[in-house]
Amino acid sequence: MALYSEKVMDHFRNPRNVGVIEDADGVGEVGNAKCGDIMKMYLKIEDDVIRDVKFETFGCGSAIASSSMATELIKGKPVSEAMQLTNKAVAEALDGLPAHKLHCSVLAEEAIRAALDDYKKKQG
Ligand code: FES
Repeated sequence: MALYSEKVMDHFRNPRNVGVIEDADGVGEVGNAKCGDIMKMYLKIEDDVIRDVKFETFGCGSAIASSSMATELIKGKPVSEAMQLTNKAVAEALDGLPAHKLHCSVLAEEAIRAALDDYKKKQG
């Protein structure tokens, strides 16, 4: 069996929503001290709905695929729904990740959570 699913390879080779949102309503940056990978998420939110999301990931292939899939999963969704996104949902949407790469999907969950927290803080 291949180590990585077709979906992981697809999102790694053609990541969706890569980039920066200059006037983002929420920005979150997280890192994993062990592997040194860093992920940054930008959210554009209107009426409590995620209208746009972009990411920059300095990291492994699984981290790039996880960021890409996570942005696809929350785009167009209400903030409350995006708050519920788990790394498990990201990994499942990618048709699985090897056990030692599950932390890459955790990074995606944390980056989105951090960006949503930043949005909420700015809202007061
Ligand atoms: Fe650390 Fe993938 S190896 S995020």
